[in-house]
Amino acid sequence: ADQRTRLKARAKELLKQHDAVLVAHYYVDGDLQDLALETGGCVADSLEMARFGRDAPQKTLVVAGVRFMGETSKILSPAKRVLMPDLDATCSLDLGCPADDFATFCDAHPDRTVVVYANTSAAVKARADWMVTSSCALAVVNHLKSQGKKILWAPDRHLGRYIQEETGADMLLWNGACIVHDEFKGLELELLKEQHPKAMILVHPESPKSVVQMADVVGSTSQMLNAVIHGDAAEYIVATDNGILHRMRQLAPGKTLIEAPTAGNSATCKSCAHCPWMAMNSLQGLVDCLESGSGAIEVPEPTRAEALGCIERMLDFVA
Ligand code: 13P
Ligand code: SF4
Repeated sequence: ADQRTRLKARAKELLKQHDAVLVAHYYVDGDLQDLALETGGCVADSLEMARFGRDAPQKTLVVAGVRFMGETSKILSPAKRVLMPDLDATCSLDLGCPADDFATFCDAHPDRTVVVYANTSAAVKARADWMVTSSCALAVVNHLKSQGKKILWAPDRHLGRYIQEETGADMLLWNGACIVHDEFKGLELELLKEQHPKAMILVHPESPKSVVQMADVVGSTSQMLNAVIHGDAAEYIVATDNGILHRMRQLAPGKTLIEAPTAGNSATCKSCAHCPWMAMNSLQGLVDCLESGSGAIEVPEPTRAEALGCIERMLDFVA
């Protein structure tokens, strides 16, 4: 605890000294989330992180999350320095959608509007017409469908299928998955629900269909958090990375939060639902990157300029 207190104090000094602000995702270490809020930064979902970083007046953004989040910030604010506590923090969706293969896929379907999830590399975004996050994907696809557009969607197959079924849009799907959400199990969730019949089930749409089907609320991390804060239920079963429980407990202290079951027996797999890449973010890494200037995100031109359009289109749409 002493070490954590020391590191937090040091990080606060460094943030001030470097005119830096901390932009954190709900899945990262609770100390980093607290520090972000104590120092005027934010804890947010992917869309809000992008917007906060773009609008922040500071010269340096420290993005505690995974690589695509840092890249999105850099694409939107090339003049700002964007640092990450660990540059190796990536995402299975990003890894599962290499830019070359994706370009081949797009080339084969020139009649389709290309919509990519935020969880992709800058090079993939450079090929896209639209970027979306989980909080606005439904609205964007509904909008495109109303214009008679056929869609090429990448990379998350569960989110893509969910959007397709909700909107009825013509969507061709890339076959990617999040290794964390893909582990949630519908059958085990049904059994858990039998034990907690009054619990409200909150599901992130990167989860499999059998899990999404049982949801009372399907949404982004911020939307799930809001459902806990404003919901009437006393108990909530939460199907997303368990890093979010930190903020849920803070903002809804009276509510009971239950982690949704992952592969097989959740009792034997307590921390399955935690992203190994989000977990690479630490207080020490934050202090190190600010002290040494390591962990700087660069997105070379022309990729940056080409990727900017699909992100701005989304931000204008939700504005
Ligand atoms: P949101 O926070 O946008 O819901 O996304 C979750 C995610 O995949 C972050 O890794
Ligand atoms: Fe990617 Fe899943 Fe980790 Fe989010 S939780 S960064 S989608 S692997």
